[in-house]
Amino acid sequence: MVSVIMPKEKTCPPIRHGVKFCAAPSPRAALGSQSGNPALTFAQSAAPTAQCHDADEATIRQTQGPYFKPSSPQRADLVEPETKARLVEINGQVLTRSCRPVERALVDLWHADDRREYDNAGFRYRGHLFTDGEGRYRFRTIQPALYPGRTRHYHIKVQAPERPVLTTQLYFPDEPANRRDGLFRRDLAMRITEAPDGLAARFDFVLDMR
Ligand SMILES: [Fe+2]
Repeated sequence: MVSVIMPKEKTCPPIRHGVKFCAAPSPRAALGSQSGNPALTFAQSAAPTAQCHDADEATIRQTQGPYFKPSSPQRADLVEPETKARLVEINGQVLTRSCRPVERALVDLWHADDRREYDNAGFRYRGHLFTDGEGRYRFRTIQPALYPGRTRHYHIKVQAPERPVLTTQLYFPDEPANRRDGLFRRDLAMRITEAPDGLAARFDFVLDMR
């Protein structure tokens, strides 16, 4: 399905799979996950350097749009075998406003595929993980396609244990369609570098906690 409707903010999605993702339960309870191990299945690159300053503003919130699904699989690698899309490794840290790393924060990612479609029947290009002891997360996925009405973007939720959920979106800084998308915010643009097999995208989340 091609999305042409500007999504509206919803504070609570309908209950599906028996759980909501809008209160502040533990990450595992929120997603019905059985395992808490955030083991990554691909090579770790150099340790990231946080771009954090004491008393930084928290990462801004954005609408979750119409295609969020709770209970995504716990996995860091979302790449489907048949894809010809550009690969993107999204990594960074989850930090407090005083730059402390947030361990075991839930990071849930979902986005359109290379044919402009969200998988609303299954979980293609949907997954969640938990940050490590230094607040780091790392997903391997693809660059989503452009579709009418929106620039290229990822949807993401971040939640420290027992804390409220931050829902937002991430953008590519040099995407020409950014100028035509009223939701685009420069503050939510990832830092992009070329990598051997695609793009490396860096974004640090700052949660509204000390
Ligand atoms: Fe979207």
